[in-house]
Amino acid sequence: MKLRYKVLSGIGAVFLIAIVSLGLVLSHDSACPLAPEIGSGVETMQAVVYRCYGGPEVLSLEDVAKPIPTGNEVLVRIHAAGVNPLDWHYMRGSPFLMRLGTGIGAPNDPRLGVDFAGTVEAVGENVSRFEVGDQVFGGASGAFAEYVVMPEDRAIAHKPDNVTFEQAASLPIAAITALQALRDKGDLQPGQRVLINGASGGVGTFAVQIARSWGAEVHGVCSTRNVEMVASIGADHVFDYTQEDYTESGVQFDLIVDLVGNHSPSANRQALVDDGTLVLVGGGKGDWLGPMVRPLQAMMLSPFVDQEMITLLASMSTDDLATLAELLESGEVAPVIDRRFTLAEVPDAIRYSETGRARGKIIVNVLKSESAASAGD
Ligand SMILES: NC(=O)c1ccc[n+]([C@@H]2O[C@H](COP(=O)([O-])OP(=O)(O)OC[C@H]3O[C@@H](n4cnc5c(N)ncnc54)[C@H](OP(=O)(O)O)[C@@H]3O)[C@@H](O)[C@H]2O)c1
Repeated sequence: MKLRYKVLSGIGAVFLIAIVSLGLVLSHDSACPLAPEIGSGVETMQAVVYRCYGGPEVLSLEDVAKPIPTGNEVLVRIHAAGVNPLDWHYMRGSPFLMRLGTGIGAPNDPRLGVDFAGTVEAVGENVSRFEVGDQVFGGASGAFAEYVVMPEDRAIAHKPDNVTFEQAASLPIAAITALQALRDKGDLQPGQRVLINGASGGVGTFAVQIARSWGAEVHGVCSTRNVEMVASIGADHVFDYTQEDYTESGVQFDLIVDLVGNHSPSANRQALVDDGTLVLVGGGKGDWLGPMVRPLQAMMLSPFVDQEMITLLASMSTDDLATLAELLESGEVAPVIDRRFTLAEVPDAIRYSETGRARGKIIVNVLKSESAASAGD
């Protein structure tokens, strides 16, 4: 064998070994360690904790140290928290590639949950945007707990008075995703025809209502049991996917927001006008490449077609939280709340989210009596 081929096959072998090793390292689940001791005299709170990756059985409700805000930090007493598919992706460390950020073998941060709404209980000495007693909502790591602490310049905003804590807690991830898909990636204009695939879920119920409030012609896709609900929140037309495939309906859309990923980008393209846009948001199962298959297909197809094919990775934004608060305050958007759970029932809430059958949002009432109270829910 020529030296050149020997070198090339050597490089290939090293590359293959590196990929296999990375795969083994990323997919390895470490054993669950015991909870660390809390020092005497430390004030505690209850929080949902996971110290190893796995199903909902790895979650436990524990006493942990109650955070103390310093500098520009705000301490929020949580009234309600929202559940999202992101929570069980974190819990399972799946897809495995995300473990490069969340922790290899076991999670770096044992706290779960992101979306919250509550009352400011204490502030650090440099806080200027918030005062004790303010009603707020936003996204922070560890929202399945009695308290969360976060810097005031992160994703936290004032809750309008006529919006309940449950409603506010349902917003951050799902409604921001819907907003960024329609506005930033989809550039949706009044009068345009938009299709929301997955219209009955957490993101979809917001997307239908936001698109409708902007004067778009909205088409939703859901199963038979959800057709009435999706029409009731503003869809002009609803495709029942058990009866009809929207990609074969002959209707063409200016924008398709795909929250399910059950059609290839080329199938979706058949349902787009010539200068239409496909925004890929969700779908794709599996621990390895599953969620990346549709975005990769879209990337490969994109240079050869007129339509735009864009993948969204939503990001928390204080400005977007304020925009959404206004949409709720004005009554243009009203969250659809499906099931409610207590903090101790978070494993059941996650189990339900993992079924993929949620109708709107799943809420965890941390302070049950007060969560719905502020707007007479
Ligand atoms: N890229 C990002 O930044 C980002 C941000 C947030 C969420 N996501 C992803 O977006 C997706 C949607 O999130 P979500 O919070 O809305 O999830 P979700 O609430 O769990 O969605 C559940 C809904 O999906 C519907 N559904 C299931 N299969 C369907 C199908 N074949 N056609 C149409 N609808 C179907 C279900 O309706 P039926 O029961 O009637 O089937 C159910 O109402 C998830 O994959 C999530 O991970 C991505």
